[in-house]
Amino acid sequence: MEHQDTKTPSSSPLKIFSTVFSLGLWVLVFPSSSGAQQEAAVNYSEHVLPILTTHCLGCHNADKKKGDLDLSSYSAAMAGGGSGESAVAGDSGASTLYKVIAHLADPKMPPKKAKIPDAEIAVIRKWIDGGLIDAPGGKAKKSKGPKVDLTLNVSTTGKPAGPVAMPEDLLLEPAIHTVRAEAVIALAASPWAPLAAVAGQHQVLLYNTDTLELSGVLPYPERRPAVLRFSRSGSLLLAGGGHGAKLGRVVVWDVRTGDRVFEIGEEFDQVLAADLSPDQTHVALGGPGKLVKIYSTKDGELLHSIKKHTDWVTAMEFSPDGLYLATGDRAGGLHVWEAKTGHIHHSLNGHKGAITDLSWRADSTLVASASEDGQVFLWELANGTKVKSWQAHPAAAAVKYSRDGRLVTCGRDMLTRVWDGAGTKLKDFEAFTDLALRATFSHDGARVIAGDWTGEIRVWDVADGRRVGQLDTNPPSLADRLAVEIKALEETRAAAAKRGAEQKAAGAAAALALDALSAAHRKTSESQTALTAAEAKLADADKALLGAAQGIKDAQAALAARQAEAAQKAQLAKDGGAALQKTKEELKKAQDAAAELLKQGESDPSKAKDLEAAQKAAADKAAELARMSDALLRTRTDADLAANAMGPAQKGLADAQAAQKQAEESKAAQQPALALVRQESVQTQTRATEARKAADTATAAQAQTKKASGEAEALVVRQQARVDGLKAAQFNVQVYAAKAELANVQAEYDALGAKGEDARRAAGDAEAKAKAGDQAVEAAQAGIQKAEAAVVEAKAGPAKAQAALEAAKKAEALKLKRLEAALLLWQNLKDDAAEAKDDATLAQAVARAKEACDLLQKDADLAVVQTIAREHGIEKAKTAIPAAEAELARTRSEALSTASQAAALHAAAAEAAKKIPAERAPAEAFKPRLDAAKAKVDALRAEYLKLKPRPI
Ligand code: HEC
Repeated sequence: MEHQDTKTPSSSPLKIFSTVFSLGLWVLVFPSSSGAQQEAAVNYSEHVLPILTTHCLGCHNADKKKGDLDLSSYSAAMAGGGSGESAVAGDSGASTLYKVIAHLADPKMPPKKAKIPDAEIAVIRKWIDGGLIDAPGGKAKKSKGPKVDLTLNVSTTGKPAGPVAMPEDLLLEPAIHTVRAEAVIALAASPWAPLAAVAGQHQVLLYNTDTLELSGVLPYPERRPAVLRFSRSGSLLLAGGGHGAKLGRVVVWDVRTGDRVFEIGEEFDQVLAADLSPDQTHVALGGPGKLVKIYSTKDGELLHSIKKHTDWVTAMEFSPDGLYLATGDRAGGLHVWEAKTGHIHHSLNGHKGAITDLSWRADSTLVASASEDGQVFLWELANGTKVKSWQAHPAAAAVKYSRDGRLVTCGRDMLTRVWDGAGTKLKDFEAFTDLALRATFSHDGARVIAGDWTGEIRVWDVADGRRVGQLDTNPPSLADRLAVEIKALEETRAAAAKRGAEQKAAGAAAALALDALSAAHRKTSESQTALTAAEAKLADADKALLGAAQGIKDAQAALAARQAEAAQKAQLAKDGGAALQKTKEELKKAQDAAAELLKQGESDPSKAKDLEAAQKAAADKAAELARMSDALLRTRTDADLAANAMGPAQKGLADAQAAQKQAEESKAAQQPALALVRQESVQTQTRATEARKAADTATAAQAQTKKASGEAEALVVRQQARVDGLKAAQFNVQVYAAKAELANVQAEYDALGAKGEDARRAAGDAEAKAKAGDQAVEAAQAGIQKAEAAVVEAKAGPAKAQAALEAAKKAEALKLKRLEAALLLWQNLKDDAAEAKDDATLAQAVARAKEACDLLQKDADLAVVQTIAREHGIEKAKTAIPAAEAELARTRSEALSTASQAAALHAAAAEAAKKIPAERAPAEAFKPRLDAAKAKVDALRAEYLKLKPRPI
């Protein structure tokens, strides 16, 4: 690999170092004398344990094994937790440990807390992918081969805090409206907001993917973007393009305000592929120049220019974790780079046609590539191996991951398809009429947006495959849209008026029906009263009839009683008559008997007594007869009276019968009236029921028309809001024009201000120089003093040197004397030793004496040299005097010139300061124009905000 590092030596290494350092990754990428070797050696004890200690060991240690997992030692960590092995060598994607801290799986660790820093997660991933090395110099465990979770479910990685960026009050007037739309070569969807960006001619169009309404126009006079990309946060949009081999440019907009926040590139080729790093600090781009260039967004500095692709660079994407950059070329070459260093990470070989698109899975472990060879490949980052591939289309033009790990592709067969993470096809959408060029998921993965060669962009619902609408790469002007919307408003207004009239009519009808209903109610209650009265009358008649019947019964009973009484009394009279007859006969018999006896008594006196008894009996009978006659007379009178009493009883009966007849007649007379009243009552009731039904129908109709009218009114309000919105948008064009004007005026002001600024800076510099001059004067004064002191010192020199010579001479004499004594001793000892050859002690003493002589000889030699030097010293001290005097003269004259220089610098500084106002004057004079331009923007914007309809 050739790796050209074009950064300037003064600033960039420092910057890279500090960036890398601040990420805590310096151990991984710095220093890199042995490159990959160094990098792979992430180990448990040095790199991983400190991270675990900070975040995990509180709960996962030998004493406290949450989840049955102890991470406090290498062997314990290798033993895993409750659900088994927690780290799989070489496969972070399959390692619970990695997944729980990257929040790619539950239980998310640390619990109920934010993720630990990304850089630390990356260290743990590297450790796992690098083979779970235990300590420095340890051996990597062998990977069990690519084992990738292709069905991984990631939902919220990297979602920015706060509201997601949506365009606010952006320009809605298209830069241009052409006769025909152009091929959809660039298309992107915000990762977090319902927003899609579409490349048009001289503009980028932003559409709301929920409402499919245009929500912003970003002018791109550079012609037509070849690539569009949202930042991972969704707050920035990048466009790369240019034309031919002349101009290439990358522009980055703030999605919310539509302001250009960053631009790079003037001199190079067209940009075919580009991306923003997730932290937005880097932009990578490439094109026909075959180079991959990485720029800093801070200052636009080119940090890396990577030369490895052998053909045009056609696709690129930073990994979501920002650590890697994948790039592809027209010959099928595909490489993954370390984003911060530009070092190669993997070259991924396999495609036989141009790479058309690249997309990373949300967890940064897989990257998908699409190629003209029709294949989609999934590459695993850890080992750089292909884990899956399939023929997606005859030639595949696009591939994009959704956040949940599905993929969408489109291709030359005009089809757009959705796949699951393992390459199983989930859905085919209706075919385009021409080659499909770009496809992407909406932010929530619920919709797919794709475009073709003819410029058609369709939006589909993924769940049911239904087309929900289209986006326009070539939208009509605001005036045209307004005309259409105004016409629509008129129509909805007319419809609403009609609905309103209908509602009124229905209201009136309902009122009438209700009146009729209450009248019917009144009638029913009246007929009810009549019915009650008639029924009461009839009841009275019935009662009378009953009374009459009772009267007859009573009269009949009375008559029967009278008859019985009369019969009884007549019987008594008859019985009395018979008894009287019998008593008459008995009296005759008694009288006959008495007469007999009387005759006899005349013949027979004894019979007198009998005669007397018989006469008495006859007298008694006669008395009895008299009594009976009286009684009979009374009985007969009674019987006659009783017989007479039957007459009134018979009359009573006749009267009762007459009364009954009358009651019957009167009842019969009531009957037909009652029937009539009854019939009437039934009729009024039926009528009331009908009236109720009619009223119900009428009120239902009224409610219905009211609802319809309300809906029509609401439609009018919405339509009106659209019209108002478009009018406001039209007004907003003025705001943008004023903004552009302000930018021009501001630039002019800055240019003018720059002169003043230059003058101010020049004056500052002159002032600094004058100050430096003053310092030089002070230094010169100090120099004079020093030189004067040196002269004094020099003059004292010869005397000092003389004294030193004396001292040296004295020392020399002393040392020579010592030497002499020593030599004498040595000679004596030598002589003695010559005689006593066996005396070892003596021999030793001789040797020592010789050593002493040698030492003292050296010392004496030195003293001699010293004396000679001191003698020279006197000469030197003498010559030093004129030298010091000359130096003093020199410093004095130098001080004079320094002083005059300082004076000149002060004069220059004063001159420069005087110039400032004049240089600033043009800017000052210009300031009101700037203020006016600002005020105009503010005023227009305030006006626009007033015009802008409130959200409904
Ligand atoms: C506040 C305590 C606490 C902290 C801090 C903590 N964990 Fe846990 N961890 C738990 C509990 C409790 C469980 C079991 C939860 C469950 O099974 O639902 C668990 C489970 C796990 C598991 C799954 C074990 C298995 O095999 O089932 C892993 C892996 C894990 N934690 C890793 C970590 C890592 C790595 C950190 C540091 C970044 C960490 N934990 C920090 C409490 C904690």
